[in-house]
Amino acid sequence: MLRFWMLLFFVSLTVSISEKKQKCLGGGGHKDIPTQENNLKECTLYTKSSCCHADITEELAHSPVIKVNTTYWNRCGNHSKLCEDYLKKIECFYRCSPHAAFWAHHQYEAAIDSVPVCKTFCDNWYDACKNDFICVKNALTDWEIDERGENHCKNECISYRKMYANGTEMCETMWGVSLKVSDSNCLCLQMNEMDDNVIKIIKERSSNSSTTTSTTTKDDEELCHLQRDKIKQMEMTREEATGI
Ligand SMILES: *[C@@H]1O[C@H](CO)[C@@H](O)[C@H](O)[C@H]1NC(C)=O
Ligand SMILES: *[C@@H]1O[C@H](CO)[C@@H](O)[C@H](O)[C@H]1NC(C)=O
Ligand SMILES: *[C@@H]1O[C@H](CO)[C@@H](O)[C@H](O)[C@H]1NC(C)=O
Ligand SMILES: *[C@@H]1O[C@H](CO)[C@@H](O)[C@H](O)[C@H]1NC(C)=O
Repeated sequence: MLRFWMLLFFVSLTVSISEKKQKCLGGGGHKDIPTQENNLKECTLYTKSSCCHADITEELAHSPVIKVNTTYWNRCGNHSKLCEDYLKKIECFYRCSPHAAFWAHHQYEAAIDSVPVCKTFCDNWYDACKNDFICVKNALTDWEIDERGENHCKNECISYRKMYANGTEMCETMWGVSLKVSDSNCLCLQMNEMDDNVIKIIKERSSNSSTTTSTTTKDDEELCHLQRDKIKQMEMTREEATGI
């Protein structure tokens, strides 16, 4: 019974926090604040609340993707569809997620720092890309950028398998410090519908300053699973009630 009231308390807390005004990342073509965006061609996970305009998703909606803005995706040939789908998830999160600014880099306003991603997400992504080709280990620093802002390989194209030892190394290197593999398998993002629930819990935990510990305990983990299911359930009830 106590557990139930604790849960109810946490859930009401998380809802009130998530309703606070959100901002988008600075620079990089982001909006100031997230708004509904009904015409997204890709990244539709963020339709309800988006930091990107629809135009950037037009180039992303192709397969294979040739380029996004001034960055070519095919410098080592086309990506496989499966691999590309993962790259799109990351690009969409960075450009469109209303939550990306929560992990804003302290020094570079357009950058993100240590977004907690699930290990399984990185492992599956690595698996999807291991036979595709790439010429940069860190896509933020290793391209040669010309005067038009277009990217060129400095090094030869090699397979992802050769470039990165495993999914963790890939996630934590490919976009510099942007992503961090979480030591939790619940308090982490997978770039899918579950993220909203997980982010509510992460935000609530970080606002609870009396208990800010960097390592996740077994209790945290259990609470996360319970809360995640509870929030999911509440949303389903709400959607039924409003007939969405
Ligand atoms: C497109 O690239 C230009 C030049 O690199 C940059 O100034 C601009 O912010 C980019 N736009 C978006 C939407 O990323
Ligand atoms: C890459 O995809 C484009 C568009 O489908 C196609 O025209 C091109 O031939 C492909 N390139 C390679 C090297 O397969
Ligand atoms: C992934 O590769 C890195 C670098 O070689 C290594 O240090 C790490 O232990 C590996 N992690 C796993 C989970 O295999
Ligand atoms: C939040 O802080 C309170 C008071 O210190 C503590 O009892 C509670 O367990 C914390 N909740 C979480 C999710 O860490």
